[in-house]
Amino acid sequence: MTKYVIGNWKLNPATLTEATTLAHAIKKMADNAGCHVGCTPSFVHLAAVSEILSGSKAWAGVQDVCAFGATGAFTGDVSAAQATDLGAKFAIIGHSERRQYHGEDNALLAKKISQTIEHGLVVVLCIGETKDEYEHGKTLAVLDTQLAVLDGLGVPQEKLLIAYEPVWAIGTGLTPTVFEVANTHRHIKAALANKELDEICVLYGGSVNDKNAAEFASCDVVDGALVGGASLKAESFSVIVQAFEKSA
Ligand code: 13P
Repeated sequence: MTKYVIGNWKLNPATLTEATTLAHAIKKMADNAGCHVGCTPSFVHLAAVSEILSGSKAWAGVQDVCAFGATGAFTGDVSAAQATDLGAKFAIIGHSERRQYHGEDNALLAKKISQTIEHGLVVVLCIGETKDEYEHGKTLAVLDTQLAVLDGLGVPQEKLLIAYEPVWAIGTGLTPTVFEVANTHRHIKAALANKELDEICVLYGGSVNDKNAAEFASCDVVDGALVGGASLKAESFSVIVQAFEKSA
């Protein structure tokens, strides 16, 4: 199975020049890569990054979409339709930072997923437990609750990727063991199969870097990585891409 390595740039970089420089590097690495490579610039950088990546194998995506419509009176929002128009191929939905800082819950996320699918983008649905939930053995139950957002939406298999991102591993340098990630990914895949979604790639995210990527990549149920901090430097992102293409 071809794996996915996606950079989540979050609210980075500070300037358009830095974003386009990084996009040029990603274009080069994607065209030679044996795995799918993507990045999600900030909305204000999407048009420029997308233009650079057009005609290459790299995907540009967005970090969020408006829940309510393609256009209209939704101040501050950007829609899936607008992102598609600029060449985006996918949208990250339900990232833990959106859940934490913007109060996003399953009811809102269901609307965002519907908008994303309606406008032809692939959904990268992020799920993951907090440190407290992890320590109390609630990880799998939390993930089941988060995955319930998919119920009744009729998301086509080919339009869905899952990113398992433990909240406590994001930006901390901490990670679960590969053994723990493997067990969790198996659970996620079984839960998806129960929803008749049985061919879904499950990516791991949370402090993936150039040092630990090979270990995650060697695990047969880790179908790729969603990378934050280490995706902002072409050198480290390239090492991660190489780790996953070797294991594909
Ligand atoms: P870090 O790789 O910086 O831990 O971030 C992971 C993440 O949130 C990707 O969506």
